Amino acid sequence: MPLASPRPHAPDTSPIPIRNFDKQRYLSREWMECERTEVWARTWLVAGLACDVATPGQYFTFEIGAESLIVARGIDGQLRAMHNACPHRGTRLVSEPMGVLRKFVCPYHAWAYGLDGSLQGVPGAGRFSNGLPKDELALQAVEVEEALGLVFVRLTPGGLSLREFLGPVFDLLAPYRIEDMSITNDQSVSHTCNWKAILDNFAELYHVPFIHPIHRRMFECATAPFELFDHGHTAVYVPGGVTDSSFPTPEVPTDMLSMQLQALGLDPAEYRGRVEAVRPAIQQAKRRIAQAQGLAYDGFSDAQLSDIWQFNLFPNIILSVTPESAWLMRSRPDAGDPGKSQFDMITLVQFHGREEDAAAARRAEGSDDPEIGTHFRLNGPRPADYSRPERDCFTHEDIIAGHKTMTVTIDEDISLLARVQKGMASSGFQRVWLSDEESRVQHFHDALDACLGA
Ligand SMILES: [Fe+2]
Repeated sequence: MPLASPRPHAPDTSPIPIRNFDKQRYLSREWMECERTEVWARTWLVAGLACDVATPGQYFTFEIGAESLIVARGIDGQLRAMHNACPHRGTRLVSEPMGVLRKFVCPYHAWAYGLDGSLQGVPGAGRFSNGLPKDELALQAVEVEEALGLVFVRLTPGGLSLREFLGPVFDLLAPYRIEDMSITNDQSVSHTCNWKAILDNFAELYHVPFIHPIHRRMFECATAPFELFDHGHTAVYVPGGVTDSSFPTPEVPTDMLSMQLQALGLDPAEYRGRVEAVRPAIQQAKRRIAQAQGLAYDGFSDAQLSDIWQFNLFPNIILSVTPESAWLMRSRPDAGDPGKSQFDMITLVQFHGREEDAAAARRAEGSDDPEIGTHFRLNGPRPADYSRPERDCFTHEDIIAGHKTMTVTIDEDISLLARVQKGMASSGFQRVWLSDEESRVQHFHDALDACLGA
């Protein structure tokens, strides 16, 4: 489908029919159960990052609704995904989110399993009059594949290959080389909204001028082109280094634009009265610096050097990328309550280039917000004392209270989303009423309905 540009407050039309769907999909347990059997059990899902299982013995767990999987790199170097349930009495084997182990030992009766899921030890093995059939008592395996630096799993075999499922999105994401990036932040927030309310939020820019005023000062959200792909994936290409065209162009670069200019060694004063020249200046400066440092930026267009490209991978992934960084966001359903979800956010940084350029850029920026701090400058080489950060888990109330932050923008989204779920429960609300500008929301729900046979 060709790129489409929304024109807010203009009689544009959506590239797809807009339906106004019933609210029950956010509220009912029946919907939740259908999603469990028809979506979560059958779709390729991002279980985690490949860098967390790069070497033999490394594992991580992945919870999706009531399911828990272990993804582990075997001694033989092969990556496997297995159900995190001891075949003896069903006990969840592993509770740590990640780590390094030689075998998995059940905390209940000490049954031991290899990294390949094979049963390796049973205390009192002679007392099982029904025997201990090794095949039947191995950890149950599921499909697993690595692509784009991500680990994908599928609980039930059958259907599209991962490559078919991702389609053109694979080729669009490949140049960013997420597999070479390093994790610099790992957060997970429990929320009181349905998992789809989070996806919906990241599938439209209609709300941006109203709850994210900071964006007016550095992005063009009003006319950002978007794209709809087969199987429910979408993309939006948000121009950076500009100001929101819904508002008058300022006489001088905004504070945000000034920080970006300075981080690339440019003087904001030179752009007085010609703020429209900031975006090409940022692109040219970044390409020049990258070239001087021998970085492989030739494959990126000018737009990719200044803009944020965001891909929503069906069903539950939001991936924002720049040549310097990526944000992997993921919304997961609760085990039993349709009004609860888990929102994960991992920040990834492409460490490359010279330390002196990176240090100068950091000084010029002076911003603590990782949204500014990682997206718009070269990061320099990976620090000698780098270590993968531990996952920080908290609740959305921690964000509202100001005890935790996931960047200014995401905090604003998270703070608002509890109100969405509360309002939906009202008897005075029956169905959502989408605009053409929310076509990506519609496309996501169309794919969901196709899975559910609705
Ligand atoms: Fe938002």
